[in-house]
Amino acid sequence: MSPFLITRTLPEETTDAALRADVRRGLTRTPKTLPPKWFYDAHGSDLFEKITELPEYYPARAERELLIASSADIAAVTGARTLIELGSGSSEKTRHLLDALADLDTYVPVDVSESALTRAGHALVEQRPGLNVHALIADFTTGLALPGTPGPRLLAFLGSTIGNLLPRERATLLSSIRSLLSPGDALLLGTDLVKDEPSLIAAYDDAAGVTAAFNKNVLSVLNRELGADFDLDAFEHVVRWDAENEWIEMRLRSRTDQTVKIPALGLAVDFAAGEELRTEVSAKFRQQVVRRELALWGLELTHWWSAGQLCGLALAQPSAAPWPTQGR
Ligand code: AVJ
Repeated sequence: MSPFLITRTLPEETTDAALRADVRRGLTRTPKTLPPKWFYDAHGSDLFEKITELPEYYPARAERELLIASSADIAAVTGARTLIELGSGSSEKTRHLLDALADLDTYVPVDVSESALTRAGHALVEQRPGLNVHALIADFTTGLALPGTPGPRLLAFLGSTIGNLLPRERATLLSSIRSLLSPGDALLLGTDLVKDEPSLIAAYDDAAGVTAAFNKNVLSVLNRELGADFDLDAFEHVVRWDAENEWIEMRLRSRTDQTVKIPALGLAVDFAAGEELRTEVSAKFRQQVVRRELALWGLELTHWWSAGQLCGLALAQPSAAPWPTQGR
């Protein structure tokens, strides 16, 4: 096969229909919500890259360092010949892992962004002659069909992206990940850890206002894609720590009573002054919570690396015992 293959399992019409359904559902319920996946158009992806360079945003640096420190162990423990990465983006932080996996035959980056996959894929096949790269344009939250590649396989889900999923979405994803793994395969899961509230808040409410712009960018996406007339200045960036759920919430608070038109949906949405629209949940974890949740889905946490209280990397393998197939 050619060293770089890209397969679209996500027709563009599907993305469009999903956006419409998410916006209609999220803006007609109380309280209003939007799923965080719609932040990431080209501008949103650039803003996220900027976030990762902010002094307050520790997760990106912390996970990179943790990956550098643990890649050799991960390679030794898994002996992976295929690395599958969900939400691979630029594949930047994955380089360390790719370099450490001496027996690697195939890398399967999975992302919704075709431009990111193409850019990363071409760079990789050049830097690593002999490595097969089979990129998948896919939404891993709605099911995954993986190409047949040599085992053992290591499925990586990094960047604490799992924290953006709500508990039920997390359950769906973990159960589908479990069904993709055979004995000898492994899951590598990157998690952000519970820590003091001021550090958490600062990471999502930086002094330079980059995260505020990132948060509001979802409104620009709706303006462009659905012809909506959101005035970005009429909303304020709000960050909350939910101590009970142990997650950060990003919200957009309406500064005034206003009505926003969304022509593509034939919808007019009223916002009261002070009303908050939730745009993101970013859950923070503890090792015990990760271990327990993985076990529910037939995945046994076998290794754990952490950078103090900053972030954690869990390696899990399919449990030998049959796992419960009834959902919660
Ligand atoms: C991409 C899931 C790591 O929850 O920290 C950064 C995105 N949101 N700042 C996170 C994000 C606000 C994010 N992850």
